Amino acid sequence: MTAPLRQTEPSVVRVALGERAYDILIGRGLLANLGERIKMLRPGARVAIVTDEAVAKIHLGAAEAAIKSSGIDSARIVVPAGESSKSYATLEKVCEAIIAARVERNDLIVALGGGVIGDLAGFAASCVRRGLDFVQVPTTLLAQVDSSVGGKTGINSRQGKNLIGTFHQPVLVIADTALLDTLPKREFRAGYAEVAKYGLLGDAAFFAWLEKNWQDVFAGGPAREQAIAVCCRAKAGIVARDERETGERALLNLGHTFGHALEAGCGFSDMLLHGEAVALGTALAFEFSAQKGLIAASEAARAAAHLAAVGLPTHLKDVPGGVPGIDILMDLIAQDKKVKRGTLTFILLRGRAFVENNVDAAEVRTFLEQKLTSA
Ligand SMILES: NC(=O)c1ccc[n+]([C@@H]2O[C@H](COP(=O)([O-])OP(=O)(O)OC[C@H]3O[C@@H](n4cnc5c(N)ncnc54)[C@H](O)[C@@H]3O)[C@@H](O)[C@H]2O)c1
Ligand SMILES: [Zn+2]
Repeated sequence: MTAPLRQTEPSVVRVALGERAYDILIGRGLLANLGERIKMLRPGARVAIVTDEAVAKIHLGAAEAAIKSSGIDSARIVVPAGESSKSYATLEKVCEAIIAARVERNDLIVALGGGVIGDLAGFAASCVRRGLDFVQVPTTLLAQVDSSVGGKTGINSRQGKNLIGTFHQPVLVIADTALLDTLPKREFRAGYAEVAKYGLLGDAAFFAWLEKNWQDVFAGGPAREQAIAVCCRAKAGIVARDERETGERALLNLGHTFGHALEAGCGFSDMLLHGEAVALGTALAFEFSAQKGLIAASEAARAAAHLAAVGLPTHLKDVPGGVPGIDILMDLIAQDKKVKRGTLTFILLRGRAFVENNVDAAEVRTFLEQKLTSA
């Protein structure tokens, strides 16, 4: 059967990585074409779908039906939902299940889920039989605009997040924007912090468009697809120029140094989701840049105003339960980034975002102390 199951053609973004190049397909209803796409990409391949329990309940049936309708054989590997699945124990289960399902070198792993599943399944794919190809089918906004693209895979160490992992690019990304309709609003909003990040990094026209159209992005429809395509195009360009993060790719960490410290300070709990921490961290990075005279105060205020308008936190006082004290925060910031003789690395703004390797730790401390006392 070759009849298209969608009315309109998907947006296609190419990640130009030579022999590791791949397409990101973005559109509403694309999951129905999963089997056809796999068949085109890898005729005769078998498939193992890795997903989590929450996504399995809602979307696994449709994914399996789409694969079966193309005559492809599939196995399912379902792990508990949540960050705790990025562990050695779950990785072992996934690897063993892939082998037990007799997935071989010409076959494919499908990661159906958010960033947790993409990171875990991608890592398992990179390890089993010295590397299996995998397809990302991201089901959260964060995964559609960020984690499914670029090939970073991994699990968490007892000593920190994402410390065990590989670079392993997917062979295809299928972002079905309709899957986001079932995402809890808070998760969608947290993912939106990463969407806004692409505008704030240096795409002023996109940021202005978001200020006008964010409600349509939340509602679904063409604006959502358009926003996701802009983000994927930006990330694809950065990844193609700097796959291993030796330079430009670090710009995607805008808001993440402050953000990670706050996330860690809240114990990576539901109190503060990753995207919420990124929103807060981005607002702080803008304000810090303004205080250093790199941008106008009005620019920092504009960034924060948009994040706040969609309901994201932008003040330390917005964190439920409060944030840790200055000493703990500074320790967490120092752990997150390399510290060289009292200087820290931050992504700051001066028109566009740039990497500043020479930020004085004492200056950051004074800035945060002010924020904490004004909170
Ligand atoms: N590899 C990268 O480049 C990269 C980049 C950014 C983040 N990450 C990683 O991504 C992870 C966070 O990803 P996330 O925010 O997608 O979290 P997640 O995968 O835990 O998903 C969030 C929650 O939403 C549920 N869910 C997912 N899709 C759903 C849907 N369509 N409908 C209803 N519920 C759904 C999940 O079951 C989960 O409970 C972190 O581990 C982070 O380290 C990786
Ligand atoms: Zn992030």
